[in-house]
Amino acid sequence: LTIAGLEELLGGLGLKIPIPHFPAADVLNKPLDIVRSYLADILCSLVECDPVNAYNSIQWPGDIFNGDLAVVLPKLSHGANPNDLALDLTRKFPACPLFLLPFSEGVHLRIMFKPETLPRLLFPYINDRKDSYGRGVSLGLHDPSSPDLGCKKVVVEFSSPNIASEFQGKHLRSTILGAYIGNLYESMGWDVIKINYLGDWGKPIGLLGVGWEKFGSEDQFQTDPAGHLLDVYKNINDLFIPEQVASKKARDEGRDSAEIEAQGLFAERNAFFKRMEDGDEEAVALWKRVRDVNIENYTNLYARLNVNFDEYSGESQVNPKTMAEIEEMLKNKGLCEESGGSWIIDFKKHTVKAGVGIIRDRTGSSTYLLRDLAAVVDRDRKYSFDKMIYVVAADQHTTHFSRLFKILELLDMSHLASKLQHVHFSEVSQMSKKLSHGHMLGEILDQYQSAMQESMKANPEKAGLLGDTEEAVATISITALLTQELSTRRANDHAFDICQMTSFEPGTGPHLQYCYARLCSILKSEPAHTDLSDEEFASLEGEDQTNLLRLLIQYPDITHSAYKALESATVMAYLANVTWHLSFCLKSQDETSVTPAQAMLYEATRRVLENGMKLLGITPAVN
Ligand code: ARG
Repeated sequence: LTIAGLEELLGGLGLKIPIPHFPAADVLNKPLDIVRSYLADILCSLVECDPVNAYNSIQWPGDIFNGDLAVVLPKLSHGANPNDLALDLTRKFPACPLFLLPFSEGVHLRIMFKPETLPRLLFPYINDRKDSYGRGVSLGLHDPSSPDLGCKKVVVEFSSPNIASEFQGKHLRSTILGAYIGNLYESMGWDVIKINYLGDWGKPIGLLGVGWEKFGSEDQFQTDPAGHLLDVYKNINDLFIPEQVASKKARDEGRDSAEIEAQGLFAERNAFFKRMEDGDEEAVALWKRVRDVNIENYTNLYARLNVNFDEYSGESQVNPKTMAEIEEMLKNKGLCEESGGSWIIDFKKHTVKAGVGIIRDRTGSSTYLLRDLAAVVDRDRKYSFDKMIYVVAADQHTTHFSRLFKILELLDMSHLASKLQHVHFSEVSQMSKKLSHGHMLGEILDQYQSAMQESMKANPEKAGLLGDTEEAVATISITALLTQELSTRRANDHAFDICQMTSFEPGTGPHLQYCYARLCSILKSEPAHTDLSDEEFASLEGEDQTNLLRLLIQYPDITHSAYKALESATVMAYLANVTWHLSFCLKSQDETSVTPAQAMLYEATRRVLENGMKLLGITPAVN
């Protein structure tokens, strides 16, 4: 689609061309922007106003029951009385192929599309954009006036589990949300680098090392490496908990915990980690084994989720030279100081925020904070990114990242700090409550798969359409999981309800797959083509069909707002809404006699569902 092609189409619909120009409009990617441009042009012809204001006064109600677009009258004309303005506009509103006569409601002027024009505009548009409908750039048809697009680089860091301990609900959320954010950026024309920053260094690995010395078994390791390591960690951690409790109690009571931490498992753990940091061969060899086993295990499991990474980095991979460099800078600038043997940054001396960040601990080992600081600098050097996103639970990380960004500013690296974003989500998850034992990603996926198997058995007709193969069950069970994760807004808690999400209720992944499969099956018997006669177009003016079309035209606006807010729930809710409106059309559909116009409507719907599913990382089970 080019501007010329688009204008030919619009001219044919009786609209004046060229398309009225507004700088904010992106008519080649968002069909609603075409409509906005014509509406703003009409407003400018009726009211004395600034064209940019006119364009910006047009809102998108989000819910088609409130019309397709709304003009916010006080925004259009600041001084005027909204009632008088509404009256004036409705009286003078010219006939236009795009709009029915507007009506006013409070401070809004509500605008509805003309049902007869909608499919004539939308079918060719969607048919032309195909898999790039909803993306930010026309694939291959790059707009040369915006050279920025397509060459900006974003690093997305996500999943990042700790290899000594179990895979938690927050890691599951990060994995799925992060992969989606990667897709979203990619679809908006960015070059995306996906990094998994494993928690593979630090004291927990030291504890695992101590555990290995006590509980490790070569035989059990050979049979189930990842599972055995998890058991070892659990055993040693059970022994360690009482010591941790004692140390915390001492601190809570204002006593020094140093004495407690100088002995027992505390001391053994720290000594093991110190050996790792000092490059002790045996300690490093064990760590390397643990890391390799986990990467192999995770790579396979992520593949089941359609997730992959460009790089398995991790805390262990941070360059010690960079850490030394950062420390040096911190010391030279007087930003960090020695305190009881550790090196700390006392934030209240440098910023309004209080608190202390530790750079090196008493034993001289690097800390999580120092490793993260050096990791940013390493990545910036390696990738020269334009943006980096950390997809990490809110938990203690909100403070961690704001400190990290602040330190970079204090080190005169504001430019780098400004490129970083922490995309957080609620860490509260029902997962540990719902699953009884040490959860590994593999078990979670298996549970979904067996629940899906049951659900398919209970719905033989749907299972029949979806194909009852093991592969189909696997795909649909992953869809169930992804749909659950991605339907939740980031700020909301993680529900983790396997039974609900593997059902075929509207809003679930299986339901989405089922609707998609139905469209595919209809389209097999009556393939769609765009050259419809006037009569055929006219057959689509019914309310159900029009409502569906009114939703389909919104899709690119949905993806763009999801891109701004980095939410997935927006897209998920939209797809559920599309399937809901589709169900009304299908209710009255005689599947043995699908007309060409109906086929085209279903094809456009199928296309939008497919694009949306792929953006969310969902593979259609049936094609
Ligand atoms: N491994 C950490 C955890 O499980 C998350 C890593 C977050 N990313 C980072 N750059 N600090 O809590």
